[in-house]
Amino acid sequence: MSGAEVSTLVHVIVAFFIAGTLFFQWRAIHPAVSAAADSDQIREAIRSRWAPMMHIGMVLLIGTGFYQLWKSIEEGVDPSYHMLFGIKLILALAILFIGNAMVGKSAALAWIREKAPMWLALACAMVIAVIVISRHLAQMPAGV
Ligand code: HEM
Repeated sequence: MSGAEVSTLVHVIVAFFIAGTLFFQWRAIHPAVSAAADSDQIREAIRSRWAPMMHIGMVLLIGTGFYQLWKSIEEGVDPSYHMLFGIKLILALAILFIGNAMVGKSAALAWIREKAPMWLALACAMVIAVIVISRHLAQMPAGV
């Protein structure tokens, strides 16, 4: 396997774990924890375990993502590749921002955690758009 293939594999595996957990938080974790009597303790127990995973996932996604971009540009890409990649990058960074806000402790981002269902739903919708764009980028012919 080439470096680019390994990078793509790592990128896709991490992307599916991060995206999957956002959906799981929205539909299962958040409603279950909010309904529990000792919700603050459970929330902190989950948060402290999940925060390092989220941070490692973010570094891996950004690292492998830029490596793949560099490899694609080396092979030659259509100008529309850059436009689509730019849209994907903005959406991906917004998803990672929401995911990080959910595991953060800072008061500055408490407004996101207070409306967690709304922000997690938005993140899941953006994940769908990111995957559609990513598939399109992967199938765009090289060259130009
Ligand atoms: C939530 C975050 C992200 C998700 C869910 C995601 C998802 C994916 C998926 C599924 C693919 C593989 C497409 C395929 O081969 O079928 C992919 C490829 C790619 N991703 Fe991401 N990604 C995310 C974040 C990022 C970030 C932050 C960057 C840039 C720094 C990035 C850059 C790329 C690039 C350049 C490709 C290769 C496209 C090509 O084949 O030309 N991704 N992504």
